Amino acid sequence: MSKIKTLGQFIIEKQADFPYAKGELSRLLRDIGIAAKIVNREVNKAGLVNILGEAGTTNVQGEGQKLLDVYANDQFIGALQSGGECCTVISEENDEYITINSDISKNAKYIVAIDPLDGSSNIDVNVAVGTIFSIYRRKSTDGNATIDDILQGGTEQVAAGYIIYGSSTMLVYTTGKGVNGFTLDPSIGEFCLSHPEMKIPKDGTIYSINEGYYTHFPDGVKKFIKYCQVEDKTTNRPYTSRYIGSMVGDLHRNMIKGGIFIYPVTAQAPNGKLRLVYECNPMAFIIEQAGGKATNGYERILTLDVKELHQRSAIFIGSENMVKKAEEMMQMFS
Ligand code: AHG
Ligand code: MN
Ligand code: MN
Ligand code: MN
Repeated sequence: MSKIKTLGQFIIEKQADFPYAKGELSRLLRDIGIAAKIVNREVNKAGLVNILGEAGTTNVQGEGQKLLDVYANDQFIGALQSGGECCTVISEENDEYITINSDISKNAKYIVAIDPLDGSSNIDVNVAVGTIFSIYRRKSTDGNATIDDILQGGTEQVAAGYIIYGSSTMLVYTTGKGVNGFTLDPSIGEFCLSHPEMKIPKDGTIYSINEGYYTHFPDGVKKFIKYCQVEDKTTNRPYTSRYIGSMVGDLHRNMIKGGIFIYPVTAQAPNGKLRLVYECNPMAFIIEQAGGKATNGYERILTLDVKELHQRSAIFIGSENMVKKAEEMMQMFS
């Protein structure tokens, strides 16, 4: 009996956890897994095919889109359109949400929010990039999904996950019953269970933040950074600074080793840079399910009001006790 458990086998096995499930969420996760394998194929040979560099277009965020941003966006949206389980897609790369009106999707009840390629600035320099996805169930029962279906809070997510295209390619996801990680075995083209029941250590010695913006950080963040740097053997300080510019890469490392990732408000990003719907909420769901914590410095990320598709938020996310310490300083000094 082979020890391998593929993503598909795992999803079907876990479907039993959801008595009402009729397989739609399973098929939706399968569709995302297929698109991830296609994107992975291009990421792995990015230097050989004309997929590096700028697309020459700008997204609603005001960011110059990379060719791989556009390629990944097309692949994930294409997979969701042909899979038939998704009625609406929200993407970092599209100003408005996309209503899927095909015959096979007319009874689809899921909404998918996606950051098709996270860490785009790393593509041309061969540093890990990722994809982040978040899945909601529509509230309305007929016609096209409405804005109320779209702007649901983080606690309404039914599933969330990320793919990291790193030294190996992994898909990590939760449906609210723990977090499981799958590594792509290229020889059989399958994501195979490699990290069952992932848990983030309650403490850690890694802090991830772009200290280039230090001057404009809130005082509470400055105090926390200094706390991380003070010599104190009893609390394993000074900590280690690790920041690669891909939220997925930084969070995955911190999930495995323990650590905190902070993107606070800065002069350039007065509301924070990271997007609530397809970066902060899905990653907060995953990290909480792994035993970690995620706040904006004052409030739990998952309970923040979602008012706009591309709304930004400050985020402090990772090992529970490190986030608590940072939150303490934010509430004391900022
Ligand atoms: P994206 O590539 O999807 O736009 O996201 C990039 C984000 C996140 O992945 C990363 O942590 C952060 O931007 C880095 O921002 P700075 O370059 O400002 O540090
Ligand atoms: Mn971007
Ligand atoms: Mn991103
Ligand atoms: Mn992106």
